[in-house]
Amino acid sequence: DLAPVVRNLLDLSDAGGDAVAAMINDAIDRKAARKGWPKGKPDADAPLAGHVLAMVFEKSSTRTRVSFDIAMRQLGGSAIILDSGTSQLGRGESIADTARVLSRMADAIMVRTDDHAKIEEMGEYAHVPVINGLTDRSHPCQIAADLLTVIEHGKALPGLEVAWFGDGNNVLHSILEAASLMKFNVRVATPSGYEPEAEFVDMARNAGCTVTLTQDAQAAASGADVIVTDTWVSMGQEHVHNKLAAMEPYRVDEALMAHAKADAVFLHCLPAHVGDEVSEGVFEGPQSVVFDEAENRIHAQKSILLWCFGKLG
Ligand code: CP
Ligand code: NVA
Repeated sequence: DLAPVVRNLLDLSDAGGDAVAAMINDAIDRKAARKGWPKGKPDADAPLAGHVLAMVFEKSSTRTRVSFDIAMRQLGGSAIILDSGTSQLGRGESIADTARVLSRMADAIMVRTDDHAKIEEMGEYAHVPVINGLTDRSHPCQIAADLLTVIEHGKALPGLEVAWFGDGNNVLHSILEAASLMKFNVRVATPSGYEPEAEFVDMARNAGCTVTLTQDAQAAASGADVIVTDTWVSMGQEHVHNKLAAMEPYRVDEALMAHAKADAVFLHCLPAHVGDEVSEGVFEGPQSVVFDEAENRIHAQKSILLWCFGKLG
C-alpha cells in the first residue's frame, strides 16, 4: 500500500533545474485554468483524488499550513495536520517510528521543523514522499512560489539580479540554491556575522552565478530586479540578543528601493514585521507583490506535490 513513486523534496536540488521549470509552468497553467471561487474546488483532472497528505508542524505556520491543505483539495485529495503539542512526537516518539507509521497511513508527508537532520531522517525512514515545509536550513517551497511570482511579473530568471537584505537565513539559502539551478545572480547585504552559510554561496558560484556578499545595502540594491527581505529574527532564534540594532541599516525602505530598477518588485515570504525589515511605504507600495507571493504558495505547492508523486517532470 505504499506510493508507487517516492520523490522527496527536501531541497530544490532534489528536483533540479528542469523539474523546477516544469513545476513553474504547471503552476502557471493550473492557476490560469482555475476560476477564482470556491477556492477549494478540485481542478478538472483531480490528479491526487483519494490521496492524503500528513503535515507535521513543530513550528508555527499560516501560509504553509493553509496552502498545502488547499493545494491538496484543489488536486482532489485532502490533508491532515499534526503538531508536537498534540501528537506523540511532542512526548518523544522518534522521527523514525513516526515516519514509518505515517507512511502506512498517508500518501505523503510534509514536515516543518527546526533541525534539518530531522527531515532527512524522516526522508530516510518514510516510504512515501517527504516535503520540507521549512527547517532552520532551508525553505524550498517558499522559493518555488517566489520564482513563480517573479516570472508572473514579467521577469525571466536567467541573469536576473536578486538582492537580499538583513539576515542570511533559511529563506536566503533556498534563494541561493534556486540561483544555482535557474542561473540568476544574488547580491546579499547583511551585517558582519549574519552571512548565509558558505555551502549555499559556493553552490551558486559553482553553477556560474555571481554572488556578491556585502555590508553595503545601497550597493546591493543598485540596479536590482528583485528586492527581497525576511524577518530579522527567525523562529527559534528569539534568544539572539543585539541582532535588531545590527540589522537597522538593512531595512528595505523607499530610499533603498529607489536604487533598484524602476520596475523592480519587492518580495517577502511573510510574516512581516513592518517597520523593522521593511518600511510601511515599501510593504504597501506599488512594487510590493507580497500577497501575490503568498497566494502563489498554493499554486507552487500543487506542482511540488505532483512532482513528488511522479505526475510531473
Ligand atoms: N512564508 C511562510 O512559510 O509562512 P508561514 O510561516 O505562515 O507558513
Ligand atoms: N526565516 C523565517 C521564515 C518564516 C516563514 C523563519 O524561519 O522563521
